[in-house]
Amino acid sequence: MNKFFLNLGIQPLANNYLPNFRIKQKKYNLKLNFNTKSKIVSISKRISSKEMFHSKYPYRSSLSKTMIDSFKKISLEISKKFNPDLILEIGSNDGALICNFEQNKVIGVEPCSNLAQITQKKGYKTYDKYWDYNLSKTLKKKFKKIDLIYSANTLTHISDLDEVFRSITNVLSNSGVLIIEDPSLLECIKNNAYDQFYNEHIYVFSIISLKNILNKFNLEIFDVKNLQTHGGSLRYYIKRKKNKKINISSNVKKQIIKEVKFGLDKFITFKKFGKKIEKSREKLIKIFTEIRKNNKKIIGYGATAKAATVMNYCKINSNIISFFIDTTKEKTNKYLPGTNIKILKYHSKLIKKNDYIFLGAWNFKKEIFKKEIKFIRRGGKFITHVPYPRII
Ligand code: TMP
Repeated sequence: MNKFFLNLGIQPLANNYLPNFRIKQKKYNLKLNFNTKSKIVSISKRISSKEMFHSKYPYRSSLSKTMIDSFKKISLEISKKFNPDLILEIGSNDGALICNFEQNKVIGVEPCSNLAQITQKKGYKTYDKYWDYNLSKTLKKKFKKIDLIYSANTLTHISDLDEVFRSITNVLSNSGVLIIEDPSLLECIKNNAYDQFYNEHIYVFSIISLKNILNKFNLEIFDVKNLQTHGGSLRYYIKRKKNKKINISSNVKKQIIKEVKFGLDKFITFKKFGKKIEKSREKLIKIFTEIRKNNKKIIGYGATAKAATVMNYCKINSNIISFFIDTTKEKTNKYLPGTNIKILKYHSKLIKKNDYIFLGAWNFKKEIFKKEIKFIRRGGKFITHVPYPRII
């Protein structure tokens, strides 16, 4: 049974960057649920994949050094540990992972054709298609043995998880390994990072809930790693249950114990989280309004889907945050979805004149603080809402 625990208000599609904020855009009520049987946390309203992932999709994973480094590291690990003949990446975005492999060793699947074209041009076989059973049948016919499937920040974006894993088991070789990584529910709840929930993030997995889903497909997790990316993620290493050649690491049990101790299997934990988030909103609004009362200027750094979620939940407009800055070409000179706050192309000059910067990309805090050391040294302050609203 799905039980409701938090209402994040009326939200736009969080990656829908428009050139004029007056253009009518689709909005929906963003509510979060916990399933008492499967233990999965999900959003209640599902938007179709076609509306979210299309030829104008603005998010590019290779624009962040943190993500490039992370993909480089896992690519080396994949080659060294598993030495696969053929890798399939589901959700290859602009190729931040697959570009670490030789062209004949990897296939990408990326439904956003603007992104798929980037890797196609570099000579990587990339299917600009949604991940579904039909595509898995095509791949099975064409490629004899796919022995490693990797997917980062993608599977939680697909509504029908049964089809996702049925399609994976259709193409993965018997001794094959599936590696998936996604934001960790434990980190999300611990850090009050409610902005991990928006239309694209249909699910936020815990090891407890993922285990329940995999069970249905005779798959099991044999290792798990905590990552710093996306504000705290989990990387799951998965195999077929019948493959006894790979041992199960003690990390799996440790992570389950950690999550059970925190209460990720109980509705009450999420109910409490819901109450905390309402307070977090009040506090953030208070910080913003006090700064503005003193006529100090605030700008936003990183026009992320997460920032759009926070701004819409807290009903913040350009009277509070003058503009956002972002390095992504596809976002600049557009508006933060659902708001009248403009996004300007990143330039260090834009930082200098401000007193406060709201960290929209709080998950890149370290990288950003390093880059903006001059602003910090001259007394500039950052504002964040994670793990609780405060001025840094
Ligand atoms: P994400 O949090 O959804 O991964 O998106 C990160 C966004 O932040 C992306 O639009 C790029 C932007 N960004 C900058 O503008 N400057 C930076 O230094 C970093 C790290 C990210």
